[in-house]
Amino acid sequence: MTRRREVIKAGLATLAGAQLASVWAADKSKDKEPPLRLGPLTTKPVPSTGERLAVVGLGTNNYSPATPEERAARREVVAALTAAGAQVIDTAPAYRQSEEVLGELMADIGNRKQAFIATKVTAPEDDLAKGKAMIEESMRRLKTDTLDLLQIHSLNGVNVLFPHLNELKSKGKVRYIGITTSSGSQHARMVELINSQPLDFVQVDYSLGNRAAAESVLPAALAKRVGVLINLPFGGRRDGNLFSRVAGKPLPDWAADIGAKSWSQFFLKYVVSHPAVTVAIPGMTKIAHLEDNLDAIRGRLPDAAMRARMEKFWDQNYDA
Ligand SMILES: NC(=O)c1ccc[n+]([C@@H]2O[C@H](COP(=O)([O-])OP(=O)(O)OC[C@H]3O[C@@H](n4cnc5c(N)ncnc54)[C@H](OP(=O)(O)O)[C@@H]3O)[C@@H](O)[C@H]2O)c1
Repeated sequence: MTRRREVIKAGLATLAGAQLASVWAADKSKDKEPPLRLGPLTTKPVPSTGERLAVVGLGTNNYSPATPEERAARREVVAALTAAGAQVIDTAPAYRQSEEVLGELMADIGNRKQAFIATKVTAPEDDLAKGKAMIEESMRRLKTDTLDLLQIHSLNGVNVLFPHLNELKSKGKVRYIGITTSSGSQHARMVELINSQPLDFVQVDYSLGNRAAAESVLPAALAKRVGVLINLPFGGRRDGNLFSRVAGKPLPDWAADIGAKSWSQFFLKYVVSHPAVTVAIPGMTKIAHLEDNLDAIRGRLPDAAMRARMEKFWDQNYDA
């Protein structure tokens, strides 16, 4: 038996092993061994039910592969995510082929049951019929009869969609309902909705370089026991994101105190250690990025004092 197999075997035996093994076995390809980096992922409970979720999931607004190679790379990420014991996959009808690609990949991999699918809906011009049709279409593309989380995308449709979403939830077609934004200009409205609607989740932009949500949305969600997904944990995919600001710069020595071995781990540990945050959903199209990001939640997370130190460090060195 090779060293690699021994390590894998030991990991499977000591962790949530049975689950991991069966999930991996469900990957019909059988062309890849499980990832080497095994270890329990940090989880948090969904406030409304207590269901535990790994605190890092997958954002898929870049899941419209242009080549077979790009598609294979995304398949590898989707398979490895659930094989490692993480669940949340965030998508939306607005993300071009994302829902369709995910539906096909999950059917091929056989991991729909292990995944927690969060998609979105809008009601343009407050047209409820358009929203209803969009939900049907999402379920068809995702090849699923139930959605784990259905979110009103960027608050587009909050005047008309809630009764329908609540009805879908009561019928068991949707397990959780929520709202999203990625813009500070919508945070105040989001707080109003947290305080006036029966929500399971909100999804909001938050990172070490963009902490506005911590002033309003995050405390409101914590107080009302609403779960929180975090989008743009790295400041997005474009130039100007957190990675571009630290390019070529070393981590501070004390990053080792929280087990951060890369800038992405430094950024993610900061985000998921906020008490209101349930799951961060970084966009990832590369297996190396998934492994790096899951490693961030296999070790220590910063406490309040360390979070304050990270903020001060960022503001002194990288706040443009
Ligand atoms: N209003 C809304 O509801 C809303 C708005 C925006 C976003 N979202 C959701 O939030 C998700 C996350 O946002 P986002 O993807 O735009 O931005 P993001 O998560 O802040 O950044 C994603 C970028 O980080 C890179 N990356 C990931 N892990 C890395 C690592 N370990 N090292 C180096 N680079 C790494 C990715 O590269 P690779 O792709 O090459 O792996 C990608 O370019 C979206 O995918 C979407 O699901 C929702």
